[in-house]
Amino acid sequence: MCGIVGYIGHRDAHSIIIKGLQRLEYRGYDSAGIALFDGKDINVTKTKGKVSDLQDKINSENNTVGNIGIGHTRWATHGVPNDINSHPHYSNSGDLVIIHNGIIENYASIKKELSNRGYTFQSDTDTEVLVNLIEDVQKNGNYKLGKAVQIALNQVVGAYAIAVFDVKKPNEIVAARLGSPLAVGVGDGEFFIASDASPFIEYTNNAIYLKDEEMAVIRIHKDTKIRKVKDDKLVDPYVQTLKLNIEQIEKGGYEHFMLKEIFEQPSAIKDTYRGRLNVNKGIIKMAGVEDNLEKFLNAQKITIVACGTSWHAGLVAEYVFEDLARIPVEVEYASEFRYRNPVISNKDVVIAISQSGETADTLAAIKLAKEKGAFVFGICNVVGSSISRETDAGAYTHAGPEIGVASTKAFTTQITLLSLIALRLAKAKGSISNSDFKRYLIELEMIPEKVEEVLKSDALSKHIADIYKDVSNFLYLGRGFNFPVALEGALKLKEISYIHAEGYPAAEMKHGPIALIDENMPIVVIATKYGHYEKIVSNIQEIKSRKGKIIGIVTKGDTEVKAIADHVIEIPETSELLSPLLTTIPLQLLSYHIAVLLHKNVDQPRNLAKSVTVE
Ligand code: M6R
Repeated sequence: MCGIVGYIGHRDAHSIIIKGLQRLEYRGYDSAGIALFDGKDINVTKTKGKVSDLQDKINSENNTVGNIGIGHTRWATHGVPNDINSHPHYSNSGDLVIIHNGIIENYASIKKELSNRGYTFQSDTDTEVLVNLIEDVQKNGNYKLGKAVQIALNQVVGAYAIAVFDVKKPNEIVAARLGSPLAVGVGDGEFFIASDASPFIEYTNNAIYLKDEEMAVIRIHKDTKIRKVKDDKLVDPYVQTLKLNIEQIEKGGYEHFMLKEIFEQPSAIKDTYRGRLNVNKGIIKMAGVEDNLEKFLNAQKITIVACGTSWHAGLVAEYVFEDLARIPVEVEYASEFRYRNPVISNKDVVIAISQSGETADTLAAIKLAKEKGAFVFGICNVVGSSISRETDAGAYTHAGPEIGVASTKAFTTQITLLSLIALRLAKAKGSISNSDFKRYLIELEMIPEKVEEVLKSDALSKHIADIYKDVSNFLYLGRGFNFPVALEGALKLKEISYIHAEGYPAAEMKHGPIALIDENMPIVVIATKYGHYEKIVSNIQEIKSRKGKIIGIVTKGDTEVKAIADHVIEIPETSELLSPLLTTIPLQLLSYHIAVLLHKNVDQPRNLAKSVTVE
């Protein structure tokens, strides 16, 4: 959570930082702030609200001058969102200023000690405690900023990505990370610091991704020195050349990132299977899987750990892996897994799924699985992310940047990748016939054009959204491969429209949820041709006799559900196993349009952030 940006060089820092914060707003958006060094003083402007509110305040305070600066967009952890708790935070002397993404868990005891020594605090944040700890270390030992930061960080417990600036030494910024991402953009005589590369990609595509417990002392016109926080060892900076481009992180004519990302799914899915799926040769090849094929094939079980939408993709994978590869699969919330004593050994494979690759609970689950000796395979979208580094092997979804807080293309590309893996394992195990294998390859290759076709139902989804936008509750029902899609549909609606929604396996309805049904309840039912169709039709009849409103997601040409449902959205025919890649699209569009019609902030829903890097 929280986005941080820093700049040191010859350009106008203010505009770089503001634009960068806007790109990082997906990480948190309850308050924002900036500190600029104008050649003499550090001037801080901060406010509750969005980066646009910050810009208004900066204009009114006329704080725009400086070639060095740091900025922050916040997702509150310690202290409510208000002007005072916003970052940057000053130290007591006013010499140091800091921005921070993460949580200092032992901040209370440090605060107490510092208070006993006369330090005072304006805010309720852990971050203000950290900057004063750095100042205290600096004063007592007469240390340079870098050393003081290092000593202070060795005293804290928790997670951090920080950038600190000292007015007495205005040609350097000190940055460090543990558990929260931090990239250093390397330009020509200038440097950028950011939570991801989007704030600096238009200036440079050379970046150093700091690893956990690394710190960088960044000096204008000098080489950046990177050290280990723990033992002070110098690390050789690895400068990566990024493939990201500016178009990928802009809205490209769409009103919202979420809509853009929904419409990007045909190309995103293609990018996921490109180079891995070869229909002509009848093969699936992925380096991470090929290199570890025996581990997968000999696994006594596969445990999937993930959170939110990625967890839903894991649930789809459970059905797919068991059906095709006949390997037992368990799907766990990473947050629960990490605090149980799971029965995992070196005979197990653990698959961690995460769009951002930074989710704290998933990272902790990976750590636990590794301690227990399991082989851990990561499925991430963000290249170079923590999860991709912490896992033993893995594969990227290649969905491109997902900025909208509500995950869309991440879900379908994760399912695509997991289906490829399941098919590859099934082939290696001999649990699938050659003809079925070939059929799935062909069908998978055709999914992008079928998604294009489903996207044409956008206007219909909007029409249905308009009818139901004012209800208080929604139900989503699905069976088999489409039960997780029902969960995902409900999550999408909840998170962006704030309408209460529940997803259920359709047959579970009679065990409780049916009591909720009356003429005011819309129920989205996924009723595809091959998915226990007759049973679902019976469920729909049961709902209709209680006057519920049915929105059916059906296979093209369906007549039976059409005759009894209030609305139907058609999807092209495909095998049931791959149908989640299609059925999920109308659900995304429905949620999107309801949220827009309700004037909600679709890309930045309240209380949420794109990547949850805290517990
Ligand atoms: O980056 P991750 O895939 O690890 O994120 C997991 C969840 O936080 C994420 O899917 C969240 O549930 C989304 N907001 C759902 O749209």
